[in-house]
Amino acid sequence: MTTQNTVREAGILGTGHYVPEKVLTNRDFEKILDTTDEWIYSRTGMKERRIAAPEQATSDLCIEAGRRAIEDSGLQPDQIGLIIVATVTPDHLVPATAPIVQHALGCVNSGAFDVEAACSGFVTGLSVAQGLIGNGTLDNVLVIGGECMSRILDYEDRASCILFGDGSGAAVVSSTATRGRILQSFVGADGSGSHTMQVMAGGSRRPADIAAVQEKMHLLTIKGNDVFKFAVSTFRRLLEQQMRDFDFGPDGLGLVVPHQVNYRIIESALKKLDIPEEKIFMNLEKYGNTSGASVGIALDEAIRQKRPQEGQYLSLIAFGAGLTWASALLRW
Ligand code: UT7
Repeated sequence: MTTQNTVREAGILGTGHYVPEKVLTNRDFEKILDTTDEWIYSRTGMKERRIAAPEQATSDLCIEAGRRAIEDSGLQPDQIGLIIVATVTPDHLVPATAPIVQHALGCVNSGAFDVEAACSGFVTGLSVAQGLIGNGTLDNVLVIGGECMSRILDYEDRASCILFGDGSGAAVVSSTATRGRILQSFVGADGSGSHTMQVMAGGSRRPADIAAVQEKMHLLTIKGNDVFKFAVSTFRRLLEQQMRDFDFGPDGLGLVVPHQVNYRIIESALKKLDIPEEKIFMNLEKYGNTSGASVGIALDEAIRQKRPQEGQYLSLIAFGAGLTWASALLRW
Protein backbone atom coordinates (compact mmCIF):
# COMPACT_ATOMS: atom_id res chain seq x y z
CA MET A 1 0.00 0.00 0.00
CA THR A 2 1.42 3.39 -0.89
CA THR A 3 0.15 6.82 0.00
CA GLN A 4 1.47 9.60 -2.16
CA ASN A 5 0.24 12.47 -4.33
CA THR A 6 -2.27 13.26 -1.60
CA VAL A 7 -4.30 16.46 -1.82
CA ARG A 8 -2.96 18.07 1.35
CA GLU A 9 0.59 17.98 2.62
CA ALA A 10 1.49 16.44 5.97
CA GLY A 11 4.69 17.27 7.86
CA ILE A 12 6.29 16.99 11.28
CA LEU A 13 5.15 19.75 13.66
CA GLY A 14 6.77 18.43 16.83
CA THR A 15 8.57 15.44 18.32
CA GLY A 16 9.44 14.05 21.74
CA HIS A 17 10.73 10.94 23.41
CA TYR A 18 10.98 9.39 26.83
CA VAL A 19 13.15 6.57 28.19
CA PRO A 20 12.96 5.10 31.71
CA GLU A 21 15.77 5.89 34.15
CA LYS A 22 17.00 2.38 34.87
CA VAL A 23 19.99 1.36 32.74
CA LEU A 24 20.82 -2.29 32.01
CA THR A 25 24.37 -2.62 30.67
CA ASN A 26 26.14 -5.42 28.81
CA ARG A 27 28.22 -5.90 31.97
CA ASP A 28 25.00 -6.46 33.94
CA PHE A 29 24.18 -9.32 31.54
CA GLU A 30 27.61 -10.86 32.20
CA LYS A 31 26.43 -11.46 35.78
CA ILE A 32 23.28 -13.39 34.82
CA LEU A 33 24.06 -14.99 31.44
CA ASP A 34 26.82 -16.80 29.59
CA THR A 35 27.71 -13.72 27.57
CA THR A 36 30.22 -10.87 27.43
CA ASP A 37 30.20 -7.15 26.82
CA GLU A 38 32.59 -7.81 23.92
CA TRP A 39 30.21 -10.34 22.26
CA ILE A 40 27.16 -8.12 22.56
CA TYR A 41 28.89 -4.94 21.42
CA SER A 42 30.74 -6.50 18.50
CA ARG A 43 27.69 -8.45 17.25
CA THR A 44 25.08 -5.71 17.73
CA GLY A 45 26.62 -2.29 18.50
CA MET A 46 24.63 -2.15 21.76
CA LYS A 47 26.13 -1.19 25.13
CA GLU A 48 23.09 -0.54 27.31
CA ARG A 49 19.33 -0.30 27.26
CA ARG A 50 16.62 1.24 29.49
CA ILE A 51 14.20 -0.77 31.61
CA ALA A 52 10.81 0.49 32.79
CA ALA A 53 10.20 0.70 36.54
CA PRO A 54 7.86 -1.97 37.94
CA GLU A 55 5.01 0.54 38.23
CA GLN A 56 5.43 1.81 34.66
CA ALA A 57 3.44 0.36 31.76
CA THR A 58 3.69 1.20 28.06
CA SER A 59 1.00 3.89 28.32
CA ASP A 60 3.08 5.72 30.95
CA LEU A 61 6.03 5.89 28.56
CA CYS A 62 3.76 6.97 25.69
CA ILE A 63 2.07 9.67 27.76
CA GLU A 64 5.42 11.28 28.55
CA ALA A 65 6.70 11.15 24.95
CA GLY A 66 3.31 12.31 23.66
CA ARG A 67 3.22 15.24 26.08
CA ARG A 68 6.69 16.33 24.95
CA ALA A 69 5.75 16.07 21.26
CA ILE A 70 2.55 18.13 21.74
CA GLU A 71 4.51 20.79 23.67
CA ASP A 72 7.11 20.87 20.91
CA SER A 73 4.40 21.26 18.28
CA GLY A 74 2.91 24.34 19.95
CA LEU A 75 -0.59 22.82 19.67
CA GLN A 76 -3.05 22.40 22.51
CA PRO A 77 -4.08 18.82 23.39
CA ASP A 78 -7.64 19.48 22.19
CA GLN A 79 -6.32 20.18 18.68
CA ILE A 80 -5.14 16.60 18.22
CA GLY A 81 -7.64 14.67 16.07
CA LEU A 82 -6.18 11.17 16.41
CA ILE A 83 -3.67 9.31 18.55
CA ILE A 84 -2.03 6.22 17.09
CA VAL A 85 0.02 4.12 19.49
CA ALA A 86 2.37 1.62 17.84
CA THR A 87 3.25 -1.18 20.25
CA VAL A 88 3.67 -4.92 20.70
CA THR A 89 3.59 -4.51 24.47
CA PRO A 90 0.21 -2.85 25.14
CA ASP A 91 -0.89 -2.26 28.74
CA HIS A 92 -3.64 -4.87 28.22
CA LEU A 93 -5.08 -6.97 25.41
CA VAL A 94 -8.28 -4.92 25.91
CA PRO A 95 -8.60 -1.96 25.82
CA ALA A 96 -6.02 -0.55 23.43
CA THR A 97 -3.26 1.60 24.91
CA ALA A 98 -4.04 4.67 22.75
CA PRO A 99 -7.33 5.61 24.53
CA ILE A 100 -5.51 5.46 27.89
CA VAL A 101 -2.92 7.87 26.50
CA GLN A 102 -5.64 10.06 24.94
CA HIS A 103 -7.39 10.46 28.29
CA ALA A 104 -4.21 11.21 30.22
CA LEU A 105 -3.07 13.82 27.69
CA GLY A 106 -6.45 15.56 27.69
CA CYS A 107 -6.86 15.13 23.94
CA VAL A 108 -10.64 15.40 24.27
CA ASN A 109 -11.30 15.74 20.52
CA SER A 110 -9.13 12.81 19.52
CA GLY A 111 -9.82 9.31 18.27
CA ALA A 112 -7.39 6.66 19.45
CA PHE A 113 -6.27 3.22 18.32
CA ASP A 114 -3.23 0.96 18.44
CA VAL A 115 -1.18 -0.29 15.51
CA GLU A 116 0.54 -3.67 15.93
CA ALA A 117 3.23 -3.75 13.27
CA ALA A 118 6.11 -4.55 15.62
CA CYS A 119 9.31 -2.65 14.83
CA SER A 120 7.62 -1.12 11.76
CA GLY A 121 4.88 0.37 13.96
CA PHE A 122 6.00 4.00 14.30
CA VAL A 123 6.64 4.47 10.57
CA THR A 124 3.38 2.64 9.80
CA GLY A 125 1.63 5.14 12.08
CA LEU A 126 3.23 8.02 10.16
CA SER A 127 1.94 6.53 6.91
CA VAL A 128 -1.61 6.28 8.29
CA ALA A 129 -1.36 9.86 9.56
CA GLN A 130 -0.15 11.07 6.16
CA GLY A 131 -3.12 9.41 4.47
CA LEU A 132 -5.74 10.80 6.86
CA ILE A 133 -4.30 14.31 6.74
CA GLY A 134 -3.81 14.09 2.99
CA ASN A 135 -7.42 13.21 2.27
CA GLY A 136 -8.69 16.00 4.52
CA THR A 137 -10.11 13.81 7.31
CA LEU A 138 -7.79 15.19 10.01
CA ASP A 139 -5.46 18.12 10.62
CA ASN A 140 -3.25 16.87 13.46
CA VAL A 141 -2.31 13.29 14.36
CA LEU A 142 -0.14 12.25 17.29
CA VAL A 143 1.86 9.12 16.42
CA ILE A 144 3.56 7.39 19.35
CA GLY A 145 5.72 4.28 19.36
CA GLY A 146 6.05 2.87 22.86
CA GLU A 147 7.31 -0.39 24.30
CA CYS A 148 8.01 -2.18 27.54
CA MET A 149 9.92 -4.97 25.82
CA SER A 150 11.38 -6.01 29.18
CA ARG A 151 7.92 -7.43 30.06
CA ILE A 152 8.00 -10.04 27.27
CA LEU A 153 11.69 -11.01 27.37
CA ASP A 154 13.10 -14.28 28.64
CA TYR A 155 16.11 -13.14 30.67
CA GLU A 156 17.50 -16.69 30.50
CA ASP A 157 17.65 -16.58 26.68
CA ARG A 158 20.90 -14.82 25.79
CA ALA A 159 20.04 -14.82 22.08
CA SER A 160 17.08 -12.49 22.53
CA CYS A 161 17.05 -10.64 25.86
CA ILE A 162 20.26 -8.70 25.23
CA LEU A 163 18.75 -7.07 22.16
CA PHE A 164 15.81 -5.09 23.49
CA GLY A 165 15.02 -2.10 25.69
CA ASP A 166 12.08 0.06 26.77
CA GLY A 167 11.15 3.57 25.65
CA SER A 168 8.83 5.75 23.67
CA GLY A 169 9.06 8.22 20.75
CA ALA A 170 6.37 10.51 19.39
CA ALA A 171 5.63 12.91 16.55
CA VAL A 172 2.79 15.32 15.82
CA VAL A 173 2.02 15.05 12.12
CA SER A 174 0.13 18.07 10.85
CA SER A 175 -1.26 19.78 7.77
CA THR A 176 0.22 23.05 9.10
CA ALA A 177 3.83 21.82 9.50
CA THR A 178 6.42 23.74 7.51
CA ARG A 179 9.14 21.10 7.78
CA GLY A 180 9.43 17.35 7.48
CA ARG A 181 6.89 17.09 4.68
CA ILE A 182 6.15 13.41 4.05
CA LEU A 183 6.75 12.98 0.34
CA GLN A 184 6.03 9.27 0.22
CA SER A 185 5.29 6.45 2.59
CA PHE A 186 5.03 2.75 2.07
CA VAL A 187 4.02 -0.27 4.15
CA GLY A 188 4.45 -3.94 3.31
CA ALA A 189 4.26 -7.40 4.83
CA ASP A 190 5.15 -11.04 4.27
CA GLY A 191 3.27 -13.21 6.74
CA SER A 192 5.12 -16.32 5.58
CA GLY A 193 7.83 -15.18 7.99
CA SER A 194 5.48 -14.86 10.97
CA HIS A 195 7.29 -17.65 12.84
CA THR A 196 10.63 -15.78 13.02
CA MET A 197 9.59 -13.55 15.96
CA GLN A 198 6.75 -14.67 18.17
CA VAL A 199 5.03 -14.48 21.51
CA MET A 200 3.08 -17.73 21.25
CA ALA A 201 0.68 -17.49 24.17
CA GLY A 202 -1.64 -14.79 25.43
CA GLY A 203 -3.74 -14.46 22.29
CA SER A 204 -6.77 -16.33 20.93
CA ARG A 205 -4.80 -19.26 19.49
CA ARG A 206 -3.14 -20.11 22.77
CA PRO A 207 -4.39 -18.34 25.88
CA ALA A 208 -1.73 -17.81 28.55
CA ASP A 209 -2.73 -20.73 30.78
CA ILE A 210 -0.48 -22.22 33.45
CA ALA A 211 1.11 -24.74 31.08
CA ALA A 212 1.88 -22.02 28.52
CA VAL A 213 3.51 -19.83 31.12
CA GLN A 214 5.53 -22.76 32.48
CA GLU A 215 6.82 -23.33 28.95
CA LYS A 216 7.56 -19.58 28.66
CA MET A 217 5.23 -19.27 25.70
CA HIS A 218 4.18 -15.82 26.92
CA LEU A 219 7.71 -14.56 26.18
CA LEU A 220 9.38 -13.50 22.94
CA THR A 221 11.34 -15.94 20.80
CA ILE A 222 13.32 -14.88 17.73
CA LYS A 223 15.24 -16.59 14.98
CA GLY A 224 17.96 -13.98 14.87
CA ASN A 225 19.79 -15.24 11.79
CA ASP A 226 16.63 -15.32 9.66
CA VAL A 227 15.71 -11.81 10.79
CA PHE A 228 19.25 -10.62 10.07
CA LYS A 229 19.06 -11.60 6.40
CA PHE A 230 15.53 -10.22 5.97
CA ALA A 231 16.55 -6.96 7.64
CA VAL A 232 19.61 -6.35 5.44
CA SER A 233 17.73 -6.98 2.19
CA THR A 234 14.59 -5.07 3.24
CA PHE A 235 16.52 -2.01 4.45
CA ARG A 236 18.45 -1.90 1.19
CA ARG A 237 15.36 -2.44 -1.00
CA LEU A 238 13.32 0.32 0.70
CA LEU A 239 16.13 2.86 0.54
CA GLU A 240 16.82 2.03 -3.12
CA GLN A 241 13.14 2.49 -3.87
CA GLN A 242 13.11 5.96 -2.31
CA MET A 243 16.21 6.99 -4.27
CA ARG A 244 14.73 5.63 -7.49
CA ASP A 245 11.26 7.17 -7.00
CA PHE A 246 12.66 10.61 -6.21
CA ASP A 247 15.67 10.38 -8.51
CA PHE A 248 18.55 10.98 -6.14
CA GLY A 249 21.69 9.04 -5.25
CA PRO A 250 23.86 8.68 -2.12
CA ASP A 251 25.07 12.28 -2.55
CA GLY A 252 21.54 13.67 -2.55
CA LEU A 253 20.52 11.80 0.56
CA GLY A 254 20.52 13.92 3.75
CA LEU A 255 20.01 11.44 6.58
CA VAL A 256 18.61 7.97 7.20
CA VAL A 257 16.94 7.24 10.53
CA PRO A 258 16.54 3.46 10.49
CA HIS A 259 14.98 1.02 12.92
CA GLN A 260 17.69 0.54 15.56
CA VAL A 261 18.05 -3.20 15.13
CA ASN A 262 21.73 -4.08 14.91
CA TYR A 263 24.65 -1.95 13.76
CA ARG A 264 25.98 -4.74 11.54
CA ILE A 265 22.65 -5.00 9.68
CA ILE A 266 22.60 -1.30 8.87
CA GLU A 267 26.33 -1.18 8.06
CA SER A 268 26.07 -4.11 5.69
CA ALA A 269 23.14 -2.55 3.78
CA LEU A 270 24.83 0.85 3.59
CA LYS A 271 28.04 -0.62 2.20
CA LYS A 272 26.10 -2.24 -0.63
CA LEU A 273 24.45 1.09 -1.40
CA ASP A 274 27.68 3.08 -1.13
CA ILE A 275 26.20 5.40 1.51
CA PRO A 276 28.68 6.86 4.03
CA GLU A 277 28.27 6.13 7.73
CA GLU A 278 27.75 9.79 8.64
CA LYS A 279 24.46 9.80 6.75
CA ILE A 280 22.94 7.33 9.17
CA PHE A 281 21.59 8.13 12.62
CA MET A 282 22.15 5.42 15.23
CA ASN A 283 21.45 5.45 18.97
CA LEU A 284 21.18 1.72 19.70
CA GLU A 285 24.39 1.88 21.72
CA LYS A 286 22.33 3.63 24.45
CA TYR A 287 18.88 2.08 24.07
CA GLY A 288 19.17 -1.26 22.25
CA ASN A 289 16.23 -2.20 20.06
CA THR A 290 13.04 -0.57 21.36
CA SER A 291 10.88 -2.18 18.66
CA GLY A 292 7.95 0.09 17.72
CA ALA A 293 9.51 3.01 19.61
CA SER A 294 12.94 2.93 17.97
CA VAL A 295 12.44 5.18 14.93
CA GLY A 296 10.39 7.66 17.00
CA ILE A 297 13.11 7.99 19.64
CA ALA A 298 15.87 8.22 17.03
CA LEU A 299 13.94 10.79 14.97
CA ASP A 300 13.50 13.06 17.98
CA GLU A 301 17.17 12.78 18.94
CA ALA A 302 18.31 13.39 15.35
CA ILE A 303 16.17 16.54 15.11
CA ARG A 304 17.47 17.85 18.45
CA GLN A 305 21.03 17.28 17.22
CA LYS A 306 20.11 19.22 14.05
CA ARG A 307 21.09 16.24 11.94
CA PRO A 308 18.50 16.58 9.21
CA GLN A 309 19.21 19.99 7.73
CA GLU A 310 16.75 22.22 5.95
CA GLY A 311 15.89 21.01 2.47
CA GLN A 312 17.50 17.58 2.89
CA TYR A 313 15.87 14.25 2.15
CA LEU A 314 15.23 12.39 5.42
CA SER A 315 14.60 8.68 5.09
CA LEU A 316 12.84 6.62 7.77
CA ILE A 317 13.04 2.86 7.36
CA ALA A 318 11.73 0.10 9.62
CA PHE A 319 11.17 -3.65 9.52
CA GLY A 320 10.29 -6.34 11.99
CA ALA A 321 7.98 -9.10 13.18
CA GLY A 322 5.13 -10.06 10.95
CA LEU A 323 7.19 -9.86 8.86
CA THR A 324 6.38 -6.20 8.27
CA TRP A 325 8.18 -3.18 6.87
CA ALA A 326 7.49 0.52 6.42
CA SER A 327 9.30 3.51 4.99
CA ALA A 328 8.75 7.24 4.73
CA LEU A 329 10.68 9.84 2.78
CA LEU A 330 10.55 13.36 4.19
CA ARG A 331 11.83 16.70 2.93
CA TRP A 332 13.29 18.47 5.98
O1 UT7 B 1 13.89 -5.79 15.27
C1 UT7 B 1 13.76 -7.14 14.92
C2 UT7 B 1 14.24 -8.01 16.05
N1 UT7 B 1 15.65 -8.16 16.01
C3 UT7 B 1 16.22 -9.31 15.65
O2 UT7 B 1 15.54 -10.25 15.35
C4 UT7 B 1 17.71 -9.38 15.65
C5 UT7 B 1 18.31 -9.69 14.30
N2 UT7 B 1 19.46 -10.55 14.41
C6 UT7 B 1 20.61 -10.16 15.00
O3 UT7 B 1 20.75 -9.02 15.41
C7 UT7 B 1 21.72 -11.18 15.10
O4 UT7 B 1 21.38 -12.31 14.35
C8 UT7 B 1 22.00 -11.59 16.58
C9 UT7 B 1 22.67 -10.44 17.33
C10 UT7 B 1 20.71 -11.97 17.29
C11 UT7 B 1 22.93 -12.79 16.62
O5 UT7 B 1 24.17 -12.46 15.97
P1 UT7 B 1 24.82 -13.52 14.99
O6 UT7 B 1 26.13 -12.98 14.58
O7 UT7 B 1 23.81 -13.79 13.91
O8 UT7 B 1 25.10 -14.76 15.91
P2 UT7 B 1 24.50 -16.23 15.77
O9 UT7 B 1 23.03 -16.24 16.06
O10 UT7 B 1 24.96 -16.81 14.48
O11 UT7 B 1 25.21 -16.96 16.97
C12 UT7 B 1 26.63 -17.18 16.99
C13 UT7 B 1 27.00 -17.83 18.30
C14 UT7 B 1 26.14 -19.04 18.66
O12 UT7 B 1 26.98 -19.99 19.25
P3 UT7 B 1 27.51 -21.23 18.42
O13 UT7 B 1 26.28 -21.97 17.96
O14 UT7 B 1 28.28 -20.64 17.27
O15 UT7 B 1 28.35 -21.98 19.40
C15 UT7 B 1 25.18 -18.49 19.70
O16 UT7 B 1 24.74 -19.49 20.60
O17 UT7 B 1 26.82 -16.89 19.37
C16 UT7 B 1 26.05 -17.50 20.42
N3 UT7 B 1 25.30 -16.45 21.12
C17 UT7 B 1 25.85 -15.73 22.10
N4 UT7 B 1 27.05 -15.75 22.68
C18 UT7 B 1 27.30 -14.87 23.67
C19 UT7 B 1 24.03 -16.04 20.89
N5 UT7 B 1 23.72 -15.04 21.74
C20 UT7 B 1 24.83 -14.84 22.51
C21 UT7 B 1 25.15 -13.94 23.55
N6 UT7 B 1 26.37 -13.99 24.10
N7 UT7 B 1 24.25 -13.04 24.02
